[in-house]
Amino acid sequence: MTKTIFSGIQPSGTLTLGNYIGAMKHFTELQDENNCYFCIVDEHAITVPQDRLELRKNIRSLAALYLASGIDPDKATLFIQSEVPEHTQLGWMLQSISYIGELERMTQFKDKSASGGKDGVSSGLLTYPPLMAADILLYKTDVVPVGDDQKQHLELTRNLAQRFNNKFNDIFTIPEVRIPKAGARIMSLQDPTKKMSKSDENQKGFISMLDDEKKILKKVKSAVTDSDGIVKYDKENKPGVSNLLTIESACSGVSISDLEKKYEGKGYGDFKQGVAEAVISVLKPIQDRYESLIDSEELDDILDQGAEKASYEAGKMIRKAKKAMGLGRVKKK
Ligand code: TYM
Repeated sequence: MTKTIFSGIQPSGTLTLGNYIGAMKHFTELQDENNCYFCIVDEHAITVPQDRLELRKNIRSLAALYLASGIDPDKATLFIQSEVPEHTQLGWMLQSISYIGELERMTQFKDKSASGGKDGVSSGLLTYPPLMAADILLYKTDVVPVGDDQKQHLELTRNLAQRFNNKFNDIFTIPEVRIPKAGARIMSLQDPTKKMSKSDENQKGFISMLDDEKKILKKVKSAVTDSDGIVKYDKENKPGVSNLLTIESACSGVSISDLEKKYEGKGYGDFKQGVAEAVISVLKPIQDRYESLIDSEELDDILDQGAEKASYEAGKMIRKAKKAMGLGRVKKK
């Protein structure tokens, strides 16, 4: 049965291999059979300080990366969140039924506010999840494909949808989260106990989707492993090696147990070479397509059409939500 799929990515810096393996890679598999919406969530990105010129560049770059990774605009709707104002409108309505306590319990908020304290972070960071819920609920989404770190936000989205339906009118579909079995949390190459992140200050910790071959090889070669010299998956005791095995498996399609056999009796030098080659073989064709898209007018046409289609659907839902909550007036004619 055709399902409605929604997912979003923040245009805050160039995407990492983690974003690709945990999320983007799975989007293309879904678009043939389903009604898909893929969003560039620029309003989420401004919850932390952004340079305006950088942000605009990153928004376009993310659109080109979506398409270069295989999103087909004839099959899926690709659009920019701020070009469809219904997102912030429903976001506000959902904020009004969110509790401060539940928002403060979100681990992403706790992590980001931990260092600077509450006076050092924007209130947008706290109200980030109701906006994310709005993204999803506007389109009657059945399934949300994301990496592991978004699980808690999805749980809150389901709670808010249920709360709204019970309090006002049963208008929202309760979405399911879909997390990949393997590669749902790709770890930093420098600290394999931490998630690979584009905001990592240590550039060697992450592979950007636009890193060239030399950079990829260098970063993989300097990845932290251990002193055993044995290529074996053991997340607890060998987090670095296990992370690299996960990466090679996700990029090559070869199972982890077959990779263990491939590297039997070989050292980490050969292993890292193999990992880097698998990553390059996935990213290089994406980078080539990216180059031809980034300055094209075609990209603007696709985003215009995406915003139009999304606005039409979002408009229908916002009218229902306003009516359910009692917003607007009773018309006499
Ligand atoms: P963002 O932009 O941080 O990440 C985009 C997607 O990449 C996944 N991801 C990872 N997967 C595996 N390993 C990693 N190291 C890794 N890092 C990131 C994320 O889980 C995500 O799927 N709040 C969202 C954006 C958002 C959204 C939405 C997502 C806004 N509205 C509606 C889904 C539906 C975020 O910050 O993703």
